[in-house]
Amino acid sequence: MHDDASPCSGCAGRRDFLKTSLQRVAAIAALSAVGPVHAIAALAPRGANGSVRYALPAADGVSIDSGNEVILCRSNGEVYAFALSCPHQNTALKAMPKNAGFQCTRHKSKYLPNGTFVSGRATRNMDRLHITRDGAQIIVDPDLPYESDLDPAKWAAAFVKI
Ligand code: FES
Repeated sequence: MHDDASPCSGCAGRRDFLKTSLQRVAAIAALSAVGPVHAIAALAPRGANGSVRYALPAADGVSIDSGNEVILCRSNGEVYAFALSCPHQNTALKAMPKNAGFQCTRHKSKYLPNGTFVSGRATRNMDRLHITRDGAQIIVDPDLPYESDLDPAKWAAAFVKI
């Protein structure tokens, strides 16, 4: 006979099952909202001139090479390379969901996928790195950043059309 005050063993099993199922649904929903953000590494160690090579991104999305502190972003037929740090106070930037751009994890400055400043405490666009294309590879110089306020022409030209 079942006592109403004591837990029903079958009910506890169903509750656990429902809780686990809801947690799985939430995890999948969270993952699908993140969008295509990949961790990448350079194809080879830095060359004598300090540059690094990456495979040309096959589709729109963001790839982050934390070892060389490079963000590679393909968006609307263009590829950009950015310094990983925010131009305000050098905090690491993160990609926003669905290839919507970037956000600083400290003071929340926001930037478009092409690095243009949108809002927040920063006073310039994300720093673009020197970038060229060699066939199916992208060549980036992590030590050659262009700051949009100091060198607007080079900043504007620092992308690869695909
Ligand atoms: S460090 Fe990024 S907005 Fe301040």
